[in-house]
Amino acid sequence: MCGIVGYIGSNDTLSILLNSLERLEYRGYDSAGIAFHNGKDIEIIKKAGRVSALRELTKGISSPLYGGIGHTRWATHGGVCDANSHPHKFGNVTLVHNGIIENYAAIKNQLGIASKLRSETDSEVVAALIDNYYDGDPKKAIISAVKEISGTFGLAIMFDDIPNEIFAVRNVSPIICCQNEDGTYIASDIMAIGEYSENYFVLPELTIAHLTGDGIEVTDFKGNTVAPKMLTLDWDIKNSGKKGYPFYMEKEIMEQPEVITKTIESRIKDGKPDFSEEKVDDSIFTECDNITVIACGTAMHAGLIGKHIIEKTCGVPVTVNMASEYMYKEPIINERTLVICVSQSGETIDTLEALKYARRKGARSLSIVNVKGSTIARESENVIYTNAGPEIAVASTKAYTTQVAVFYLICAKMAYLRGRLNEEETAAFIAELAKIPAAVEDVLNRRDAVHHLSNGLLTAEHTFMIGRGLDYPTLLEASLKLKEISYIHSEAFASGELKHGTIALITEDTPVIALLTQDALMSKQVSNIREVQSRGAKVLTFIKRSLQNKDVECSFELPDLRDDFMAIPAVTAMQLLAYYVSSDKGLDVDKPRNLAKVVTVE
Ligand code: M6R
Repeated sequence: MCGIVGYIGSNDTLSILLNSLERLEYRGYDSAGIAFHNGKDIEIIKKAGRVSALRELTKGISSPLYGGIGHTRWATHGGVCDANSHPHKFGNVTLVHNGIIENYAAIKNQLGIASKLRSETDSEVVAALIDNYYDGDPKKAIISAVKEISGTFGLAIMFDDIPNEIFAVRNVSPIICCQNEDGTYIASDIMAIGEYSENYFVLPELTIAHLTGDGIEVTDFKGNTVAPKMLTLDWDIKNSGKKGYPFYMEKEIMEQPEVITKTIESRIKDGKPDFSEEKVDDSIFTECDNITVIACGTAMHAGLIGKHIIEKTCGVPVTVNMASEYMYKEPIINERTLVICVSQSGETIDTLEALKYARRKGARSLSIVNVKGSTIARESENVIYTNAGPEIAVASTKAYTTQVAVFYLICAKMAYLRGRLNEEETAAFIAELAKIPAAVEDVLNRRDAVHHLSNGLLTAEHTFMIGRGLDYPTLLEASLKLKEISYIHSEAFASGELKHGTIALITEDTPVIALLTQDALMSKQVSNIREVQSRGAKVLTFIKRSLQNKDVECSFELPDLRDDFMAIPAVTAMQLLAYYVSSDKGLDVDKPRNLAKVVTVE
């Protein structure tokens, strides 16, 4: 959730650290800081607030000739204040840290350092522990300290008496490294440093990276040299700016027709889904009795759409699990269970731990991931990447719709292999899938109409969203989108369930959003709309074009696709609705309060 950067080389250290931190800010934006060697000792500049506030503080400082490290924070231990910001220094040691040290209180007592600490963080205790072991041999001190700590960590460490060297070590929390002719770089994710080199590696767990201006050496705890696997970045990070949009979220919503096409097209051969490029063996779809989807937040909502279409089309039971709850409920799982993990970042710790648990229990695994080479992708037996490109806004949009697109592909593949769809039916399924980008484009072209409707929500404190069948999981996602970026309390309900209690909350001040895309459920949904209208609610209706009728007024017309394919165009309209409410309220759409893009704490 926090972000780490480090650089040593001939270029301007200060601007590399600050620019990289800005690119990383989506991981956490409570506070930011940098540390660099000034030739005598290590200087730290840090501040609660955004990287822009840190940048202000550094004005007038000439760029150091030596390397440095930097950090953006999402608070876990200790509140948001200057003292708790990273980097932390204890004795000879200065470090930045991602993750959580579970036994930090015990270490603090054991070292007897409580009165010397300047922050409430677990990270400062790690600096003290390394300093405690430091006798001039940095690696020895790091190894001794790491052997004592339990928890997750990515650490970038500098020593007062070693001016131009950075050390890094990690457990679970990612650290990546790269180099070019100007120097060496580390970061917690590729967004920070991808512009400096397209070739990078993920530091293997429990090895030490030693960076100098000339190169990076990786060794294990016994001192043996390790050759990490090099990866190649295929995202155009240099051009990943806002492209004229005021917020990344709007840009990412607008990119959906293109990235959905990219996700689908490359996986269709002769009218059928084809995963041979990613070497996903057919047996994974034929030799399972049930599917367990594991994910969090928006990614879990993609799983709910997957459940709906797979159960209906393939007749295979699917359960969808919140990753954070999964392994604590003694899940029913065996070697005939196919676990599908869904994650944009590929780093969500709850999903990662649940995946590892399921694999230990013998399940087969397939992950739908956006970030190439991420931890979940590496830990999974099979991976299908969404081709969404970098997603910067905290509120996930294009990652979600491409995840759903992959579920459609998986569904078609499974149904074909299991004889639930014949050749012709599979081709028809795929042909309908291929119409989704144009349907999304149709919604985007009429975004002004959604903007107009969003005015009706600007002053609302609460809203309810109602839908039936496939529309219900779509609204769960719509509701999360509205909550996280507009701070309006919103709840999605299966329309028929509302009258079993929650309808008591409906008043004339509670706008209701109703989604109607499912032919067979139309008349029942119209009755449910009447029920809330009778209690004074103003209802905004989003209705599929061909389902419009005189019984219900339409606020926004959705394009026509077969019912099972409506999830993506419908959610696009809802993403726009949330976006316009948030931006018209003057909120920071891309960086909503309390959140972070990558959630690496349990
Ligand atoms: O990176 P992941 O897809 O694993 O992240 C999962 C959730 O944290 C994420 O989808 C979150 O719910 C988004 N902020 C929603 O917009």
